[in-house]
Amino acid sequence: MRVLVSGGAGYIGSHTVLALVAAGHDVLVVDDFSNSKPTIIARMEALSGKSIPIHGFNLTDVDKTERLFATEQIDAVIHFAGFKAVGESVAKPLEYYRNNLDSTFSLANAMANHGVAKLVFSSSATVYGEKAPVPYQETYEYLSAASPYGQTKVMVERVLSDVAKAHAGWKVALLRYFNPVGAHPSGEIGEDPQGIPNNLMPFIAQIAVGRRDKLVVFGDDYPTADGTCERDYIHVMDLAAGHVAALEHLGSMDEPVRAFNLGTGVGTSVLELLHAFERASDRKLPYVVGDRRPGDLAAYWADPSRANQELNWRATRTIDEICADTWRWQSKNPQGFPDS
Ligand SMILES: NC(=O)c1ccc[n+]([C@@H]2O[C@H](COP(=O)([O-])OP(=O)(O)OC[C@H]3O[C@@H](n4cnc5c(N)ncnc54)[C@H](O)[C@@H]3O)[C@@H](O)[C@H]2O)c1
Repeated sequence: MRVLVSGGAGYIGSHTVLALVAAGHDVLVVDDFSNSKPTIIARMEALSGKSIPIHGFNLTDVDKTERLFATEQIDAVIHFAGFKAVGESVAKPLEYYRNNLDSTFSLANAMANHGVAKLVFSSSATVYGEKAPVPYQETYEYLSAASPYGQTKVMVERVLSDVAKAHAGWKVALLRYFNPVGAHPSGEIGEDPQGIPNNLMPFIAQIAVGRRDKLVVFGDDYPTADGTCERDYIHVMDLAAGHVAALEHLGSMDEPVRAFNLGTGVGTSVLELLHAFERASDRKLPYVVGDRRPGDLAAYWADPSRANQELNWRATRTIDEICADTWRWQSKNPQGFPDS
């Protein structure tokens, strides 16, 4: 297939582009580089051995999106583009709703206008809200989210479900990621957050290279084995493989829209992850215990059995591999991707 990857210069998108090329698909990318750097492209091309066409514009621009579909052959779309920082979304809700919803509207409109009916969407475990039983299952109906960011995922899932049902032949996979971490095993591409990392793994990796002093663990009195929060960390290479599996499954899907959890099914605590990274980097990583953070859930992980069975996919990489690959990326690129 010739696949348009929106947000393909970002963290998960870039790894997925490589997995798509490796599986024999043709790829073109649209990204406005609002949260990524153009220097990633040369590395993706070196790793894949292919030239990767990039369209550098903002998808909320309806005219440019239309023109792209009018001039390029596109068989399917994987839609990663969007803002993703939970805290920032609370401070700037309008920017989040506008970017994440408008980019989806432009894309879905252009798809409908040009007869493109296959779509894979980046959703999140955040749509399970605060009350879903653990492990999370796709059959849980009461989707909700505490932050504007999470609400955009709930809303886009709803929009795409309605559009898929209304247009004959549409097939949409809603992929609910758990906690993506890790890097390409080459150490050439990986997660490169701008500013202070919001997520645990890049924060730990930046302590290991000396960019941050110490980790503040938000609470150690949760009802978990060591008292710190547990999450389902999934290697970005496993996640990328999940996108290829979902894309290739769309043609044989019975219903117009289906949600899939992409997770491992296992929870790992903050301290377990920190200690695994100490082993991988062979250095001591300082931490202090701080207060609980409002809104944090004690522990959750995926029931990935639907994706295991229907997509014939499963996450195979361990926490130790995740840490080894992240360390290779961060130690080779302590400041992330170069500006030029
Ligand atoms: N990383 C996670 O922990 C996580 C978890 C669950 C879901 N997701 C979702 O997965 C997707 C990808 O996440 P990521 O971690 O790779 O994020 P990322 O920020 O690294 O990648 C997103 C890319 O989209 C681009 N972009 C943003 N808005 C755009 C627009 N309007 N037009 C064109 N390009 C635009 C950015 O420049 C960036 O390169 C996002 O939708 C995110 O919400 C991520």
